[in-house]
Amino acid sequence: VFPSSSDASEYLAEHIIRRINEFGPTAQKPFVLGLPTGSSPIQVYSKLIEAYKQGRVSFKNVVTFNMDEYLGLKPTDPQSYHYFMFNKFFNHVDVPRENINILNGLAEDVELECLRYEAKIRSHGRINFFMGGLGPEGHLAFNEAGSARNSITRKVSLVQSTIDANSRFFDNDLSKVPKYALSVGISTVLDNSDEVAIIVSGKNKQFALEKTVHGKKNDPSYPSSYLQDHPNVLIVCDKEAAGLK
Ligand code: GLP
Repeated sequence: VFPSSSDASEYLAEHIIRRINEFGPTAQKPFVLGLPTGSSPIQVYSKLIEAYKQGRVSFKNVVTFNMDEYLGLKPTDPQSYHYFMFNKFFNHVDVPRENINILNGLAEDVELECLRYEAKIRSHGRINFFMGGLGPEGHLAFNEAGSARNSITRKVSLVQSTIDANSRFFDNDLSKVPKYALSVGISTVLDNSDEVAIIVSGKNKQFALEKTVHGKKNDPSYPSSYLQDHPNVLIVCDKEAAGLK
């Protein structure tokens, strides 16, 4: 728990840098990094970019997999997670373009796209590090309430609270928010990752964080509670999210 979201982000960015550097820039295998979108990781990305510019980390030997993408948005749409990732992170670091993996929200055969993505993740053996955020109702990636522990990458319907929360990025116009997305599953994250880190900030995440850490274990109503089932989870938050003064 950190005094501010900036301190929490700084800590997490330094932790990721440590992990990548320990792994070694010339290791035979690439370092596999799972990544989220949303407002929570933005400062982490800024701090990683800063460290890259200072020569403290390189992403040349890193392969990335993003958690999710809206269905039906073009990669050039400013609200797509493709656009977000290139704008906030990939365009500013040395990660090779061919190492970047993001679900294709325009895929003609959605089922095939999800199977392809899941298989590509699993072909790497292990994800070294998965960073995520939390939805206010305890969703992880776009795994909404009801998602199963053994869920894999698939098409999901967004629940009303997610559509409401994300409408702030769509001119507060609910009709513009996509109703479906493609998302990695709970199993994709938990069963393939050596370490999972969740960044949480702000009072509106207090409820989700409480359910994640102290709620009933493996409660499908709050998919982030599945994190209790993973042996190596790091939660980095500010004091508002933790409910501290
Ligand atoms: C979206 C994303 C999630 C993210 C959540 C929280 O629904 N699919 O991966 O964790 O929003 O976003 P924010 O960090 O903006 O609160």
